[in-house]
Amino acid sequence: MAYQWDSSLETGHEKIDNQHKQLVAALNNIIEASQLGKGKDEIFKTLDFLTGYTIMHFTTEEKLQTQYDYPDYLIHKRYHDEFKVTVGDLTKRLVAEGPTEEMIGIVTTTIGNWLLNHIKGDDFRMAAYVKSQEAQ
Ligand SMILES: [Fe+2]
Ligand SMILES: [Fe+2]
Repeated sequence: MAYQWDSSLETGHEKIDNQHKQLVAALNNIIEASQLGKGKDEIFKTLDFLTGYTIMHFTTEEKLQTQYDYPDYLIHKRYHDEFKVTVGDLTKRLVAEGPTEEMIGIVTTTIGNWLLNHIKGDDFRMAAYVKSQEAQ
């Protein structure tokens, strides 16, 4: 099942929201590639894109946080770092076991759940802070 973008994911910070939209789209591309029966190479290409985009996105958020001395920067960064490790582990598993529909389901559900939870909690708080600082 594909992930849906809706207003419950909107932090109100344009740059962050745009990147989150791209993340959801990238996640859906993996699901779609699997459902369409695309080959291994194509599926790993979509996963590589998501991984690269995630790292870029985390860097964007971390820069905004250090720029405005966000008080929860260290913990937020730790969540990002831990998630990068999780994605790395999932990728290794996918390589070892092959991109079966079942494995793709595990990978996309794990990534999707983490992302949506993180956006609705940590990112919402952080974006509100960044926006208040930018408004000054
Ligand atoms: Fe974040
Ligand atoms: Fe984020």
